[in-house]
Amino acid sequence: MTQSYRITLLPGDGIGPEIMTVAVAVLKLVGQQLDLKWEFTEALIGGAAIEATGEPLPAATLEACRNSDGVLLAAIGGYQWDNLPRHQRPETGLLGLRAGLGLFANLRPATIFPQLVDASSLKKEVVEGVDIMVVRELTGGVYFGQPKGIFTTETGQKRGVNTMVYTESEIDRIGKVALETAQKRSGKLCSVDKANVLDVSQLWRDRITQMAAKYPDIELSHLYVDNAAMQLLRAPKQFDTIVTGNLFGDILSDAAAMLTGSIGMLPSASLGEDGPGVFEPVHGSAPDIAGQDQANPLAQVLSAAMMLRYGLNQPTAADRIEQAVLQVLEQGDRTGDIMSPGMNQLGCKAMGEALIKVLSHS
Ligand code: IPM
Ligand code: MG
Repeated sequence: MTQSYRITLLPGDGIGPEIMTVAVAVLKLVGQQLDLKWEFTEALIGGAAIEATGEPLPAATLEACRNSDGVLLAAIGGYQWDNLPRHQRPETGLLGLRAGLGLFANLRPATIFPQLVDASSLKKEVVEGVDIMVVRELTGGVYFGQPKGIFTTETGQKRGVNTMVYTESEIDRIGKVALETAQKRSGKLCSVDKANVLDVSQLWRDRITQMAAKYPDIELSHLYVDNAAMQLLRAPKQFDTIVTGNLFGDILSDAAAMLTGSIGMLPSASLGEDGPGVFEPVHGSAPDIAGQDQANPLAQVLSAAMMLRYGLNQPTAADRIEQAVLQVLEQGDRTGDIMSPGMNQLGCKAMGEALIKVLSHS
């Protein structure tokens, strides 16, 4: 029977629209091949939304996302919006989308593609085979904790405040996602916190330890975040699944992504309790190359694969897309960001065409 899915597309800013076009073409073809029907709705977010409506996350966009089975987001932001007040900035739109859809679990894989191992700034023997999944808590912690703001003290001095807060239930639900993720992988979970200094981290550590006791097949370890950053660079292969809070996850997921040397290849998934997930590349909107047909669309395409795997429970379609990406790399196709001597350099569109060709024959 044909399965039908309503997908909201949020192309956003910079290279967003170009890479989205490629991902949609890939989804359409795989849909035809596997009898999946797509109803795509496009909506505005980030700078594009600011230009059209004055706000980075119009109510109509959140509504469209809520009414869909999955949200495919490209990238937001650009220099022209960097100096707007915080509530109007593109980033605020993204945070509003996460909060509005209750997307508390952010999965960020950092996988070394064997064909691109030389792209890493670290030695080949250190990074070869790296396959890490960072599970970042996404709707709590210091990003959302109250009180927050810039206040004036009695002496007239300004005082900036953010508050790092986690409740037991917030820790438990991300802990569950991380433990189940680790179960599907190698069974190793490392929880990262700052329990030597922060009370909120002590609670985090205690709860994750209690949760893990219910999963006897999981090998749990704990690291302080400073040590975790060091270990990621020193010996990344010791990690499989990492679970951490919002701010530490923001930082460590960028570090883990950079181990691969090819941030243009990495997708992510943001999931809630139920309702649609948001699937987006780890990289940004790359305004310096926007509109020049130079962007690497593969992270966007792999985000569509993550949507199929984690959002729509269509693993066969996800496998098919991931295999096609490996195949184009294998045949030497590269965009500028992952180019190396002797390979074929392609633009964004041509990379999309190469993928379509491979998929048509698979
Ligand atoms: C990310 C980004 C965002 C974050 C910004 C754009 C709000 O850095 O998705 O990692 O800090 O979460
Ligand atoms: Mg970040």
